[in-house]
Formats: sequence, C-alpha cells, structure tokens
Amino acid sequence: MLNQTITDNEGVKRYLITLNVNGDTHTVLVKGNAILANVLRDELNLTGTKKGCELGDCGSCTVLLEGKPVDSCMVLAMEADGREITTIEGVAVNSKLDAVQEAMLNYTAVQCGYCTPGMVLSAKALLTRNPHPTEPEVREAISGNLCRCTGYVHIVEAVMAASEGRLVPEDYKSSKAEGESA
Ligand code: FES
Ligand code: FES
Repeated sequence: MLNQTITDNEGVKRYLITLNVNGDTHTVLVKGNAILANVLRDELNLTGTKKGCELGDCGSCTVLLEGKPVDSCMVLAMEADGREITTIEGVAVNSKLDAVQEAMLNYTAVQCGYCTPGMVLSAKALLTRNPHPTEPEVREAISGNLCRCTGYVHIVEAVMAASEGRLVPEDYKSSKAEGESA
C-alpha cells in the first residue's frame, strides 16, 4: 500500500510499495512512472520476464497479476502495489517443471525461447480457469503472445497435451522403446 514517499537528491518523489512476487514479499522504492517489467527485472533480478516491444504488442513481458495475464510493460509498478504477481521464476516448484513447461520442452515448442515465459504464463492462466480447453480456446488464450520462430503449431500442441496429461509425445515414447530393445 502506498504509505510512504521519499524525495531523492534530484527532487524526484519515490514511493515505497510492496510487491508480492512468487510468494515472496518485496518492498521497493519506485518512481511514480516506474514500469512493472523494469522493476521485476532491474530491482528484483527476475529477468525471466522478457521485454520485446515495450508497447503492449508482443506479450514477451507477460506475468500473472492476481492470476490474470498482463503485459507488465504496460503496468505501472504502483498499480501492482500489494497485489499477487507470478513470474516465470515462480512456475516450477522445488525445481520440478510445471506441466506446461514440461510439455513445451517435450513437444519442441521452444526455439529461441524469447516468447516462452510469457507463453507459459498465458497457458497456465487458461488451464487454471479452463482445465480442458479446445484448440481454438488455446489459440485465443495465447493470441497476445507473439512467437517469431515456431509457427505456433507445437506450442498449441504442447498446451493441449499438458491439459490432457500427455506430457511425453507418443512418437518420443515409441522411439525410446525401440532404442531400449535394440
Ligand atoms: S514487451 Fe510488453 S508486450 Fe511487448
Ligand atoms: S521460440 Fe522464438 S520467439 Fe517463440
């Protein structure tokens, strides 16, 4: 909550805010115009949140704010004061990848990886509100996350697979079995 302001040596007012990120509480001093993506990356060292366009177009900066995907380049840090934020660093639990992350890897849905953090968070938000989405619903949910590498086919496949608990592709399983019996 905005309970304290400080004016620095240059006469700029700064606000003491509290960000609840991935279950941890951080108190940060920010300018009124500080952008959430920058505060996450530069103040909290959570650089898994990427920045592409910084215009709200590409989705690479997606985080969950109170469980909903937002472009963190379009959110003032002060707007997030006292609210729950999930970044990609908060998705794996005890070093175990989340189902969406695992499926993304197993279904070769990651190439350069720049879109992946935002894509995973948008997909997770979808599966939380709709555990068994249709393919069009998956495409709609990730429509704000641009990927320049994959053509989306494997990403959609991975999200569908995660929703159905098929974290390892069938062809991968059978090639492994063949390798073992050879
Ligand atoms: S960097 Fe935020 S939407 Fe592109
Ligand atoms: S994997 Fe490169 S932008 Fe999506």
